[in-house]
Amino acid sequence: MKRIAILGSTGSIGQSTLSIVESYPERFAVASLAAGRNVDTAYQQCLRWHPRIVSLATEELASDLRQRLRREGLSDIEVVWGSEGTVSVATLPEADFVVSAIVGVAGLEATYAAVLAGKTIGLANKEAMVAAGEILTAAARERNVALLPIDSEHNAVHQCMRAGERGEVRQIWLTASGGPFRTLPIEEFANITVEQALRHPTWVMGRRITIDSATLLNKGLEIIEACRLFDLPPSAVRVTVHPQSTVHSLVEYVDGSLLAQISVTDMRLPILYALSYPERVASELRFDMQALADLHFEPPDLERFPCLRLAYEAAEKGGAHAIALNAADEVAVAAFLERAIPFMGIPGTIERVLETTSETHPATIQEVLTLDCQARATARRILADSNTGRRG
Ligand SMILES: NC(=O)c1ccc[n+]([C@@H]2O[C@H](COP(=O)([O-])OP(=O)(O)OC[C@H]3O[C@@H](n4cnc5c(N)ncnc54)[C@H](OP(=O)(O)O)[C@@H]3O)[C@@H](O)[C@H]2O)c1
Repeated sequence: MKRIAILGSTGSIGQSTLSIVESYPERFAVASLAAGRNVDTAYQQCLRWHPRIVSLATEELASDLRQRLRREGLSDIEVVWGSEGTVSVATLPEADFVVSAIVGVAGLEATYAAVLAGKTIGLANKEAMVAAGEILTAAARERNVALLPIDSEHNAVHQCMRAGERGEVRQIWLTASGGPFRTLPIEEFANITVEQALRHPTWVMGRRITIDSATLLNKGLEIIEACRLFDLPPSAVRVTVHPQSTVHSLVEYVDGSLLAQISVTDMRLPILYALSYPERVASELRFDMQALADLHFEPPDLERFPCLRLAYEAAEKGGAHAIALNAADEVAVAAFLERAIPFMGIPGTIERVLETTSETHPATIQEVLTLDCQARATARRILADSNTGRRG
């Protein structure tokens, strides 16, 4: 029986993880849960899963949840809050496996604490890997902790890499759906609305990753995540646009063989793979072979999707540049969702933040968080400047 801590339990990945736990009660149990502000869903999850400990973003929300649980006679569930609370959830001694699925850099400290505590990690929180990948992977190597990717592309690469030796890999190919604007002419990018950008053609996900998929910055974050997870240079992490999202990624070996992982577009499958690794467990997630009849691949268009170019540049420089790429995007996406900047203001803001970023390589998580704060402040300053949107 694996006992699981879920960081981001109320989100899309968190809820899919709970659905896997529900389907395999003989294999998995919930040990602890961490959420942000969605107290109603956290409450329902406590009733259903009875975790040892649960965390919410603020003291006020935690106090609300504690009272509701008391009324149900569930005072034995410890309710904590804030980043310390999330760390307590991640490091609970009874938990063997931590699903890291908080969105953004907010998930970093707890993921790092879980690695230090020797937990096996199912990693969905790509931003943690982008901001602090070198530190996280070094700590994981030192403690012999497995970092198992949940992101579907990296999960696919992980699966395909089991077929060969690391030194036999020439490069990997991450597939990208291309998002909702894959075929939109560049002149029309200025008129893209929030509603259009939130309509992803193949995946249902949280709001930030959906917008990041529309700008292709999500693929950019995944390039950096892949470099860190699989110890590859950016030049060995290629992107191919594949609108059907059927092939989740490919590994190209030195002899010219390409191995691809193909499955339904359902995040429960990579979650199940990570939770069960190194075993494979039978599931109902069957693939319809008809879907192979019409597969299409094309190179990404860096002119319409400058975020991809910015991400490659940040991947080459690493350190503060990768941190700034993610931080600036988080601020810019929030501004776009509030309709304060146009769609192309997102790459515009990121580019300007990267221009002001120095080549620093942080050695500790605290230094990462300081650089993250600085990049956010720069992004906000740039956004306050009314020229930002027009420049994008
Ligand atoms: N969704 C996908 O299919 C998918 C695929 C691959 C990778 N990922 C990655 O997985 C991560 C989660 O994505 P998602 O789509 O599940 O996002 P989501 O639906 O927006 O969920 C985000 C989760 O993080 C929690 N959270 C946010 N800020 C927090 C904070 N300060 N403290 C504690 N919890 C906090 C949210 O809590 P509340 O809702 O309670 O506020 C929620 O549980 C992201 O890094 C994303 O890139 C997602």
